[in-house]
Amino acid sequence: MDKNLNTYRSEKVVRHYADYDDLQKPEQTILNLLKSKLSNMKMLDIGVGGGRTTTYFAPLVKEYTGIDYSEKMIEVCNNKFTKHYSNTKFIKADVRDLNCFCENEFDFVLFSFNGIDCISFEERNIAFTQIKRVLKNDGLFCFSSHNTNAIADLLKIKIHLNIFYSIKRIFDILKIKRINKGLLEKKEIKDWIIINDGDHDFNTQYCYINPLYQIKILKETGYQNIMSFSFQDGKQMSMENEIMKNKSKWVYYLCS
Ligand SMILES: C[S@@+](CC[C@H](N)C(=O)[O-])C[C@H]1O[C@@H](n2cnc3c(N)ncnc32)[C@H](O)[C@@H]1O
Repeated sequence: MDKNLNTYRSEKVVRHYADYDDLQKPEQTILNLLKSKLSNMKMLDIGVGGGRTTTYFAPLVKEYTGIDYSEKMIEVCNNKFTKHYSNTKFIKADVRDLNCFCENEFDFVLFSFNGIDCISFEERNIAFTQIKRVLKNDGLFCFSSHNTNAIADLLKIKIHLNIFYSIKRIFDILKIKRINKGLLEKKEIKDWIIINDGDHDFNTQYCYINPLYQIKILKETGYQNIMSFSFQDGKQMSMENEIMKNKSKWVYYLCS
């Protein structure tokens, strides 16, 4: 997974995230849910990237800290925001070691757009424990993660009116199959899997996780009141059956 950091340091990828400014549907749902409480919250935005979520959250919260392990992303955020918002700061830090923050420091921790999937499965559990340490007892943690139920779609050919797009898609599928050495064609994909899904010109590896298994891990780590939201429509999924069948590319989780 080490090559992910190089990818998130590269000029092309940094520019990609710096230019991206839409809120995803589940993020909008969660922002609406928390809106009335945000003005009293001290927020930590992990894997802040080019500051997509800063634009929406920094004006609403009491204090906002954005961190990223790519110093290039931090540079972009400092240039974009520090002049405009006096309650905002950006620090280079890695989610696997949050010792630069105190215990019980934050009311709200966000790790958006599958940033948690950039680290190994073992380190993911370290990250959940680190986040729990810096969260206040009644604090909230929100993140998203790729969904194993969406893996079959990575290999599906979708006919597109643009012939060049369709041909590129076929070549991408062949490369995804080759690069993952047959792992994706298995009938039963286990609870989690590390794969190269072609993102950023095949220069990343991400953890995909079964949403019910993710919820189990959160419970085991001591998180409670776990809610999950589909990427497709941003709606909360309340029934276990609904979560099990959900095929959206990734799922958002909100817990305390
Ligand atoms: C998919 S990008 C999302 C960026 C931004 N949150 C957004 O939604 O546009 C994931 C971000 O997480 C950061 N990241 C990945 N692993 C990290 C880690 N271990 N610690 C801190 N940041 C990390 C990457 O550098 C990258 O900026």
